[in-house]
Amino acid sequence: MMFTERVVSGMRPTGALHLGHYHGALKNWVRLQSEYPCLFFVADWHALTTHYDSTDIIGKNVWDMVVDWLAAGIDPQQAVLFIQSRVPEHAELHLLLSMCTPLGWLERVPTYKDQQEKLSDRDLSTYGFLGYPLLQAADILMYRAAWVPVGEDQVPHVEITREIARRFNHLFGREPGFEEKAREAVKKLGSKRAKLYQELRTRYQEQGDESAVSQGRELIEMAQNLSMGDRERLFGYLEGSRKIILSEPQVLLTEASRLPGIDGQKMSKSYGNSIGMREDPESVRKKIRTMPTDPARVRRTDPGEPERCPVWQLHQVYSDDATREWVQTGCRSAGIGCLECKQPVIDAVLKEQQAFHERAQPYLDDPSLLRNIVADGCDRARKIAQETMRDVREVMGLGYT
Ligand code: TRP
Ligand code: SF4
Repeated sequence: MMFTERVVSGMRPTGALHLGHYHGALKNWVRLQSEYPCLFFVADWHALTTHYDSTDIIGKNVWDMVVDWLAAGIDPQQAVLFIQSRVPEHAELHLLLSMCTPLGWLERVPTYKDQQEKLSDRDLSTYGFLGYPLLQAADILMYRAAWVPVGEDQVPHVEITREIARRFNHLFGREPGFEEKAREAVKKLGSKRAKLYQELRTRYQEQGDESAVSQGRELIEMAQNLSMGDRERLFGYLEGSRKIILSEPQVLLTEASRLPGIDGQKMSKSYGNSIGMREDPESVRKKIRTMPTDPARVRRTDPGEPERCPVWQLHQVYSDDATREWVQTGCRSAGIGCLECKQPVIDAVLKEQQAFHERAQPYLDDPSLLRNIVADGCDRARKIAQETMRDVREVMGLGYT
C-alpha cells in the first residue's frame, strides 16, 4: 500500500541492554519491523535532559545499545536505525512547537514532578527537562507516525503529542479556500464512497464517534488516484475544517515484560538484578543457579509452590507446556530439586543468548559496519524529516523568499 502507516520509537542510550529490555521492548520491535515501515532511534538528547553532567559515557552507551538492537534481530534492511542528535531537524521542530505549547501542558505531565522527586540528587528544574515531552512529540510528529510502541509509563507522552499535533493543525492548518477544495476532493471519491465519507464525517463531528474517524481514514487510504494534497484535505475535513499538517499518533502498548530479575523484582540495571543480553554464559549460569526460589522449600524434601517462585516466572517466558507441567508437578510433590528445575531455564536463556552473540559478532569485529548502518539510517530519516520541516516552516510563515 502506498500510505502504509509508520511506526516510530526511541530509547534513551542506557548502554548494554538486558533480557528485560529484550522481552519488554525489542522483541516487539523485531515483530513490527516486518509489518510496518519502522524508524527506531537513540534518544541521546533525551539522555542529556536528565544526565547533562555525565557526557563522557554517551558515545559508548549509544553504540553498545545499537549492537544489542541488532543482536536482538532488528534488521537494518527493514527498519531505519538512527541517532536523534544526527537528525538536527528534531531540534528545529522542538523549537517551533515550543512557540505554541502552553507551559501548563508540560507542567502537568506526570513524569515531570515524579522524576524530579525520584532523581532528587540532581537539579531537574531546567528548561530542557520541562521540554522532555515536547522533544518526544517532535520525534514522533516529524515522521507523521501512526503508531508508537511504548510501555505504560510513556502513554502520557504520546497523549500530549496528540494534543500538540491537534493544536498545531488548528493554528496553522488554515488553507485559503480549504472547505471548497475539500468538497471538490470528496467528489473525486466517487458517489458511493463520497456518500459514506459524508456519513462518517457527520457521525464523528456530531456524535464524536471515534470509530467513524478510523473508518473514514481507511476509506481515504483505500481510494486511488487522489493527489497527496487532496488526500490530506480529506483527512483534515473528516475531523474538522483544517488541513492536517502533523498527524496524531496512537500508542501501541507494549505489554510489560514478565521477566523478573534474579531477585524476583522487576529486572532493572539500577537494582543490580539483571542479566545482560550478551552476558558471559558462565556468569549467567551462576546467576540463575543462585536465584532465590520458593522460601518454603528449605529442604529438598519440602514441597514448593511455583506461584511463589521467581524461577517459575522464567519458565513462563522460556519453557514449553511439557516443561511447565513437569515443573508444576515436580515442585508441588517435591519430586524435583530446585537446581534441577532451573536447568531448562539456564539452557533456554543460553540458547537465546547464543543467537544474540552470533548476530553481534560481526559488529564487534568491525565497528565500521555499525557506523555505516547508522549513518545510512540517519540519511533516510533526514529525508523524511526534511519533507516535514518544509511543510512546517511553510505554514508557520517561514517559507518566505
Ligand atoms: N521517553 C522515551 C523513554 O524514556 C524515549 C523516547 C524519546 C521515545 N523519544 C521517543 C519513545 C519517541 C517513543 C517515541 O522510553
Ligand atoms: Fe521454584 Fe522450581 Fe524450586 Fe519449585 S522447584 S521452588 S518452581 S525452582
